Amino acid sequence: MSVFPILETERLRLRDLRISDAETIQTLLNEPEITGNLMDKALPYSLEDAQSLITYSQDAFAQGKAYMFAIERKSNEDMIGYCDVEVQADHQRGEIAYWIGLPYWWQGYATEAAKRVVRFGFEDLALNRIYAYVMKRNEASAHVLQKAGLIYEGTQRHGTRKNDVYEDVDFYGLLREDWLTAR
Ligand SMILES: CC(C)(COP(=O)(O)OP(=O)(O)OC[C@H]1O[C@@H](n2cnc3c(N)ncnc32)[C@H](O)[C@@H]1OP(=O)(O)O)[C@@H](O)C(=O)NCCC(=O)NCCS
Repeated sequence: MSVFPILETERLRLRDLRISDAETIQTLLNEPEITGNLMDKALPYSLEDAQSLITYSQDAFAQGKAYMFAIERKSNEDMIGYCDVEVQADHQRGEIAYWIGLPYWWQGYATEAAKRVVRFGFEDLALNRIYAYVMKRNEASAHVLQKAGLIYEGTQRHGTRKNDVYEDVDFYGLLREDWLTAR
């Protein structure tokens, strides 16, 4: 894939991260409700962190390692959230992750974006398996994954440590054959 894909849903557009998104990313991620549920992010989240994320997304795309999307509404070009799929080509599998800025929660945006990225993974990247990890206490994300078709596969006890607390981590996955059958 030589040009970064733009994915559309009924209400959303998923596109590449741009350096002009850095301040929005910093503002949206600087909330304990967001970073507290992300295994690889911590507070404070600086402008430099956001800029590094954007630069990394460009390299990762160039190497076919990850597709990291800004989520914006079709009605407005402001970034409201983020969704990605990280590819392990040897295994034809991809890990999805996402967050939505607090002012935009509870409107079905994460579900709409996750479903579209799952479709992108199977149709455009020809993945065999799409999966996600989520801290057990994160009921909202579990709902999103289930609505995107992923199935609970098991729990890793104390699978991660967040803010000095061991957290159980639930695994969700979806195989290409099951996704095709369910369509
Ligand atoms: C998880 C997250 C992305 C959901 O975003 P969203 O756009 O509000 O999600 P949606 O509106 O598509 O759906 C959320 C679902 O969870 C439910 N939900 C939302 N908050 C909830 C909560 N605190 N407890 C239980 N369920 C909750 C909603 O009711 C909805 O389910 P339903 O449609 O069956 O009613 C958002 O809360 C977020 O960014 N959280 C922090 C980062 C994060 O957890 N990322 C995922 C890491 S694995």
